[in-house]
Amino acid sequence: MKSGSEKLLIRALKGETLSRPPFWFMRQAGRYLPEYREIRKTAKNFLNFCYTPDLAVEVTLQPLRRLQADAAIMFSDILVIPDALGQDVAFREGEGPVLEPIRNVQGLADLDMGRLDDHLAPVYEVLSRLHKEIPEETALIGFAGAPWTIAIYMVEGKGGTECGLARTWAYQDPDGFGQLMDLLIKSISHYLIKQVEAGAEALQLFDSWAGVLSEQQFRRWVIEPNRQIVENVRAVHPDIPIIGFPRNAGELYEDFVRETGVNGVSLDHTVSLNWAKKKVQPLTTVQGNLDNHLLLAGGQVMEDAVTSLLSTLNEGPFVFNLGHGILPPTPPENVERVAEMIRTWENGTA
Ligand code: CP3
Repeated sequence: MKSGSEKLLIRALKGETLSRPPFWFMRQAGRYLPEYREIRKTAKNFLNFCYTPDLAVEVTLQPLRRLQADAAIMFSDILVIPDALGQDVAFREGEGPVLEPIRNVQGLADLDMGRLDDHLAPVYEVLSRLHKEIPEETALIGFAGAPWTIAIYMVEGKGGTECGLARTWAYQDPDGFGQLMDLLIKSISHYLIKQVEAGAEALQLFDSWAGVLSEQQFRRWVIEPNRQIVENVRAVHPDIPIIGFPRNAGELYEDFVRETGVNGVSLDHTVSLNWAKKKVQPLTTVQGNLDNHLLLAGGQVMEDAVTSLLSTLNEGPFVFNLGHGILPPTPPENVERVAEMIRTWENGTA
């Protein structure tokens, strides 16, 4: 196996500019792939699927075979944390995640960090098996949801809302809400440290709902918790590259990067390329930000956007990715075409 530092993803996250950028795609494993849908049928529910190492390892490998991506992201979900803490979590067909909501500080009494390691042992096994099975030039990414995004699901009981219940609780009772956030900061830090021990070579923290907060709340519930997690993980594994993803943070991406100390930041598709190049790339490696809907559209409009992204951001440290995950109706051929364009890119060619 190649040592981590020779792999393109790790080199880019350590600040190198490469003649072609490394790439992987958020949700590169998933329902857009017929081979995923086939194997998904064999598990009784989604969480069980995530906790069955044979299945989770196989679906992590599927997109690598089609795309020769530079990184494998372990197959799991951000909601394994509330599940492991003891909250009732279910994934319903066509509806997404449904949780038994926690609406106040009394609701925290049933959560227990002591359960984490036993419950998450299958995830660590998935990582250690992948570490041995992926191609030697491929980097292995572990991940977790960031506290604010996980808290949204824990408090609202589902996704896709305005996050009103969590935002109101955080304003009315910041100390109580802060206890939930502190439990998540501790749990996620521990979980990520264990992932590195199991073989993860880089980590991504998904803060998908960061963009619903006002500036002051963003600083308190997005920047500060991400900063603490980076600090906690680095205290044990000082060299592990960590990518932040405060989706829809707008101009606050800049302060997020400065204050959390991440090694890379994943940008959503609304971020201007020139702004990212001028303001963010001098601070850290940027990752992103092709609109996932371009993969539905395909054709010339998609190829032009890929070329423009490569020619703008690959003059500095860059990891090619999407602004958000691949959508289920995406034709796999479009993803393969983008992968091919990146693999054959050399700086200076257009
Ligand atoms: O390939 C990869 O990127 C790794 C696997 C991965 C999944 N979820 C698998 C999954 C990762 C990194 C996630 C992260 C995740 N999960 C996030 C953060 C990123 C984002 O998308 O904003 C969030 C918010 C979740 C929560 C979640 N999980 C939702 C809202 C849903 C339902 C929506 C949907 O796409 O079905 C899931 C389910 C889920 N997670 C699926 C997959 C492949 C689909 C489940 C199925 O196959 O039935």
